[in-house]
Amino acid sequence: MNIEEARTRIEELSKLIDGHNYQYYVLSSPTISDFDFDMLLKELISLENQFPDLISPSSPSQRVGGDVTKEFLQSFHKYPMLSLGNTYNKEELEDFDKRVRKTIGDEFEYSCELKYDGVAIGLTYINGILEKAVTRGDGEKGDIVTANVKTIKSIPLKLITNDFPPEFEIRGEIVLPRASFERLNAERADIGESLFANPRNAASGSLKLQDSAEVAKRKLDCYCYYIPGDNLLLNSHYENLRLAKKWGFKVSEFMVKCQTMEQVLSYIANIYNERSELPFDIDGVVIKVDNLQFQQQLGFTAKQPRWAIAYKFKAESVTTKLISVDFQVGRTGAYTPVANLAPVQLAGTVVKRATLHNADQIEKLGLFEGDTVYVEKGGEIIPKITGVEMSERITGANPVVFPEVCHECGARLEKNEGEVAWYCPNEDNCPPQIKGKLEHFISRRAMNIDSLGEGKIEMLFDNKLVVNIADLYSLTYEKLIGLEKVIDVTDEKQKKISFREKTVENILNGIEQSKKVSFDKVLFAMGIRFVGETVAKKLVSHFRNIDALRVATLEELTSVEEIGEKIAQSLLQYFNDPMHIQLIERLQAAGLKFVMTDDFQQISIALEGKSLVVSGTFSQSRDYIKLLIQQHGGKNVSSISSKTDFVLAGDNMGPEKLKKAEKLNITIISEEDFMKMIE
Ligand code: IVH
Repeated sequence: MNIEEARTRIEELSKLIDGHNYQYYVLSSPTISDFDFDMLLKELISLENQFPDLISPSSPSQRVGGDVTKEFLQSFHKYPMLSLGNTYNKEELEDFDKRVRKTIGDEFEYSCELKYDGVAIGLTYINGILEKAVTRGDGEKGDIVTANVKTIKSIPLKLITNDFPPEFEIRGEIVLPRASFERLNAERADIGESLFANPRNAASGSLKLQDSAEVAKRKLDCYCYYIPGDNLLLNSHYENLRLAKKWGFKVSEFMVKCQTMEQVLSYIANIYNERSELPFDIDGVVIKVDNLQFQQQLGFTAKQPRWAIAYKFKAESVTTKLISVDFQVGRTGAYTPVANLAPVQLAGTVVKRATLHNADQIEKLGLFEGDTVYVEKGGEIIPKITGVEMSERITGANPVVFPEVCHECGARLEKNEGEVAWYCPNEDNCPPQIKGKLEHFISRRAMNIDSLGEGKIEMLFDNKLVVNIADLYSLTYEKLIGLEKVIDVTDEKQKKISFREKTVENILNGIEQSKKVSFDKVLFAMGIRFVGETVAKKLVSHFRNIDALRVATLEELTSVEEIGEKIAQSLLQYFNDPMHIQLIERLQAAGLKFVMTDDFQQISIALEGKSLVVSGTFSQSRDYIKLLIQQHGGKNVSSISSKTDFVLAGDNMGPEKLKKAEKLNITIISEEDFMKMIE
């Protein structure tokens, strides 16, 4: 392909991919399978790799991220980013309506919209290309976060129609959908990172990440709600946003026009009831005068428009009695207070427990035993205690104290510089930490021993059969058979479970199978603090075996892409402990993989979708040939069928195979032909 042909194809592919992104991320109605979409993207990336001069900053390939920003530059907003006046009650909303009517009369409409609980962003487009994305900052100037924003699939890098102003800014809110938020927090819990309190904090933290490839993984979304300036095509805010949707922006379906206050109030009531069904958090609705001329007439105060108001939803709050405070020790030793409450109905569920976050929170609340407390469920998923009803404090009650030692193992709790959380440092001897580590080790994304679960781990631990991950590999049939445990079915009823032959066989089988798990998963499974799946993969592909990783210095570790000082220190600390070295040696002796064996890396799509049978001997090893097939997108199959695309025939290929291939009319290729195909 020459450069001109490549240019045409790249343009064609970019248009197609942009169109499919729009269908999927903005309209939520994909018209192509994920596989076919990936094929188009792969083709584009491969062409751009061949012709790097043709890569445009608005190419859909640029969404995967990769740019690393050390420090965000700032940019002044052309139009200041103002806030909105807000209210929590109907009366104030009616006052707002009266003020509006006094200035512009009664002949107007409101546009009612969701008030997204995320991070505001200003997107500037020049000739239909995203030029700049700037955060709110102090309202006058914000951070330029363009590289990170480009990874958000619902933000067009290039607009898809032609009827937009040559230069304009559009504003919206970047949100992290609740499902992505929960997944992100689960992953963070897995590696011992502190959790985000709510999706808004997570969205804001994500936008400020230095590595845009990391941002791409977070699955942020963006809803547009405002186009400042006076070079717009239509005189209605609502219609302009509908138009913007045609240009490629995501605009909420929940935007409606209202003529009367009754309609506005019924919209508010509807959204209030529906909000838990939305995939993202909102904290109210926004009511805007729709006509742009009327907006101009109403103007702005120093801080906010006079033509709009936010009606915010109060976080639901109830009072209940504090029964006790428990402390939980996580897999990584994080020591978290949890309040046990007298059961109370709140936002549709019965609440019995609430998080107290950390020691600072207990102190801030000034919590005493038996207190009557306020419990809220706002943006956060887990209810929290927000205050104490002092008039109901029991005389003579004692304050709730944060312990100095771990109640599980007696170790003195520790706190790291600059962190709020306390930790139990006794990571190898504290029961919940051991059990947590074992559960993590067997989990699906780690060693995937699904014949063991939380309950069985507990049984093994209680019977002192397993106190660390290496002990799992010393389990035998004799040790396991007949093992018993009594479990509570209800408060009165108990049930006895015992390991029978089949269970034991399954457990031992699962453990045996886990020896085949690749080194990166083993490293992740070991549960080293801050070593998640991605970090484990990076470390393994760099150091390739445990011996090299074990002796790596701080400099060597931090020279690896994505490995910062925090992760490096955690690794150094881990490998510095003789107990851990002994553990690794036992796991090695048990036969677990500590060497990278799989050199798989996708090189091209030359063989995409093709099935190949490799037979005979070649100038290179057969395994290497098979690896090449995979690296070029092909599939290795062991026996010839009508579905086979090629038989790669080496010397001394079996006569039976040859006959079958000929009979089924399958193309037979030589090693030389094969090499040409993947060139
Ligand atoms: S309009 C000049 N519409 O709320 C008016 N803002 O409290 C510009 N927000 O900074 C704002 N949803 O981040 C508008 N549908 C919506 C919104 C919305 C959320 C945020 C926005 C703004 C803040 C003001």
